[in-house]
Amino acid sequence: MIKDWEKILTDIEKDLLKLPSQELKKKYLSKEGIVTNLFKEIKSLDTKDRGIYGKELNKVKNLIDEKIKRSEQSEIVESSKRIDPSAPFDINTSKDKRPQILDLKGSAHPLYKELEKILDIFQRMGFDIMESRQIDDDFHMFESLNFPKGHPARDMYDTFWTDDGYVLPAHTSTMQNRALRKLGPPPIRVVLPGRCFRNEATDASHEHTFYQIEGIYVDEGISMGHMLATIKEYLEQYLETDLEVKIQPAYFPFTEPDTEFVISCPFCKKVGCSTCGYTGWIELMGCGMIHPNVLTAGGIDPQKYTGFAWGVGLDRLTLIKSGITDIRKLRDGDINFLRQL
Ligand code: FA5
Repeated sequence: MIKDWEKILTDIEKDLLKLPSQELKKKYLSKEGIVTNLFKEIKSLDTKDRGIYGKELNKVKNLIDEKIKRSEQSEIVESSKRIDPSAPFDINTSKDKRPQILDLKGSAHPLYKELEKILDIFQRMGFDIMESRQIDDDFHMFESLNFPKGHPARDMYDTFWTDDGYVLPAHTSTMQNRALRKLGPPPIRVVLPGRCFRNEATDASHEHTFYQIEGIYVDEGISMGHMLATIKEYLEQYLETDLEVKIQPAYFPFTEPDTEFVISCPFCKKVGCSTCGYTGWIELMGCGMIHPNVLTAGGIDPQKYTGFAWGVGLDRLTLIKSGITDIRKLRDGDINFLRQL
């Protein structure tokens, strides 16, 4: 029997707002709790339905666990004596008489942890790494990427400009020209991670500030076959599962042809789940063969060399991998949330 997870989640969200942690535990996680009983139903399901059922149910359980943990931690913080951490105390004071300092250790931000995993995969595949900039110019944002002045596609990117004409990069493709010039003549294999900024309204999948990881590969005889194989290999290593992949048409002035890279949902294996919007497929990134004008602008002869490029969003990848439903949680500084990733 397949559940209406949307409805279950809506009901739970209401309880999460009004019930204290003890009552939540009793209602959902106790021996006869709602979630415990839902877990018991797994046995009665068809084997093919168990994976997706288990995954959705785990999401529900994680949501409740998270809420309980947060309430309990805030109780601890509230009940702790407030102290002045800069106030000196005699080093000879016994431990139980010293001012109480909460034992909260720092750790790397989840986005950095994911970035390190991805860079490690590409390094093992023979790619160099060059970090992108956080402020750039019109040439690198547009002109070197085959968007002449006045080109309507410039409006596709909601860019922030400074008063003196600099731009906050709206994508990491700003680094393509620098990488081609610095690392040429080919072979060139490089990944270019960096922060991007877009002047757009935020929602669960859009941030004004996010990370992209650009990649370019240029050599003699490079084709779309190489592009598909390289990106597929990287994603299979990162998501730790076999994937089916496909490309579909897109539009970018700096690639020809321009495509969007689509993967089979790594969680439901195309059965349909909330991560893939019940389509079985996830559109993951823009990619394509680097436009001859971009190669020429980077000092590479397009008669002799071809190459491919891609640009993937690190934040959205992290959402997919960790089952987070709102991209804004990654940056709102909620330490209790970040600790769980
Ligand atoms: C680009 O930015 C192209 N530069 C990608 C590219 C590179 C194409 C090289 C061809 C060759 P796009 O606007 O689709 O494309 O963004 C790429 C990825 O960045 C998206 O798939 C998404 O994962 C991420 N992204 C874009 N906008 C946002 C946003 N507002 N918040 C979070 N992630 C975003």
